[in-house]
Amino acid sequence: MVSQDFSKNLFPLALVLLLLLFSSAEAHVTYGFYNDTCPHAEAIVIREMAKVMAKSPRLAGPLLRMHFVDCFVAGCEASILLNSTEKYVAEKDAPLNIGLRGFDVIDAIKVKLEKTCPGIVSCADIIAMVARDSVFLSQGPYYEIPLGRRDGNRSLASDTLGNLPPPDSNITLLKAFFTKRNMTVKDMVVLSGSHTIGISHCLSFSDRLYNFTGKGDMDPTLDKKYATMLKSLCKPHDLMSAVDMDPGSSGRFDLRYYKLVSKRKGLFVSDAALLHDSETKAYVERQAKAKTAEEFFHDFAVSMINMGKIGVLTHQKGVIRKNCAFVN
Ligand SMILES: *[C@@H]1O[C@H](CO)[C@@H](O)[C@H](O)[C@H]1NC(C)=O
Ligand SMILES: *[C@@H]1O[C@H](CO)[C@@H](O)[C@H](O)[C@H]1NC(C)=O
Ligand SMILES: *[C@@H]1O[C@H](CO)[C@@H](O)[C@H](O)[C@H]1NC(C)=O
Ligand SMILES: *[C@@H]1O[C@H](CO)[C@@H](O)[C@H](O)[C@H]1NC(C)=O
Ligand SMILES: *[C@@H]1O[C@H](CO)[C@@H](O)[C@H](O)[C@H]1NC(C)=O
Ligand SMILES: *[C@@H]1O[C@H](CO)[C@@H](O)[C@H](O)[C@H]1NC(C)=O
Repeated sequence: MVSQDFSKNLFPLALVLLLLLFSSAEAHVTYGFYNDTCPHAEAIVIREMAKVMAKSPRLAGPLLRMHFVDCFVAGCEASILLNSTEKYVAEKDAPLNIGLRGFDVIDAIKVKLEKTCPGIVSCADIIAMVARDSVFLSQGPYYEIPLGRRDGNRSLASDTLGNLPPPDSNITLLKAFFTKRNMTVKDMVVLSGSHTIGISHCLSFSDRLYNFTGKGDMDPTLDKKYATMLKSLCKPHDLMSAVDMDPGSSGRFDLRYYKLVSKRKGLFVSDAALLHDSETKAYVERQAKAKTAEEFFHDFAVSMINMGKIGVLTHQKGVIRKNCAFVN
């Protein structure tokens, strides 16, 4: 009788345990993932990042973008860090990634982590931590991120096509890029706020100044004064000069991006496009008028965490690369 009762109760318990086991195998990333295996991992990353930012604060923008590019192209599995080989042109050498920098920063942090905890911390997690710390060290929010990503072994420049929104994307196209990744329209307008830090090459917006519809014209939606300033920085056919995306505050993670976009001073067609949808326009206008960055900072953390879960590899689906630029 007793044993019968026991087995009756045991069955659902076993089922629950089994389900828990399965759901944790499915679960992608978790908080405190390195607590036991490499408890100082996050401290090491932020310490190294503080040194990098003290010397080269302008790397914050590209290091933040690196996480976005990594996740949107084939998932957050560090494909962006792999070098091209004789057989393949890698993602980092794709035309849309021409402005991306800071690969050496990631590689150097990986070396530090390998000394402390060999074979434990993935390159994909380093990208995620570095992006978070780039924001924090630019006076943006600090937020906990779940970790436990593993690294992939494939990187193809051609994978960027159709996965990274080009800077001249209209609102329809922009939304399609995000919904394809299960990201919401809100995630899109919030993550666009990343343009509060960093620079862009003239290449990405030159047509707005000189040849918008292919008839030597200017984008009529661009603020005239701002356009004049941009033309002085990017002469016709100058594709490689760099300009701040958020002039006057491009080293500081703040609300100014939204103020600029609301005044038709967004740098890219894809920034201006945020005024062409009622939901994104309302968000831009609310943040442009906000007294504090509290709401944006909170939203940004939520959207970054969402983005950091795209196509994550866990368990045997991925590896821990020894050197972030090469497959093991
Ligand atoms: C990991 O460690 C941090 C800092 O000690 C602690 O706040 C957190 O609760 C721990 N998380 C887990 C899942 O153990
Ligand atoms: C790998 O790529 C990085 C950045 O693209 C470059 O600096 C480095 O020299 C490359 N390493 C090798 C061994 O080719
Ligand atoms: C948006 O851009 C896409 C791709 O260039 C184009 O096919 C589409 O017609 C554009 N939509 C609008 C509303 O302009
Ligand atoms: C998006 O979500 C749906 C439903 O939850 C899921 O089936 C699909 O695999 C997800 N796609 C991506 C790219 O994560
Ligand atoms: C403007 O764009 C059109 C169509 O793409 C192209 O044929 C023309 O050469 C461009 N003009 C300049 C000055 O770049
Ligand atoms: C790439 O990773 C997959 C999954 O871990 C593995 O099955 C495959 O053998 C790996 N390929 C190479 C070339 O390492």
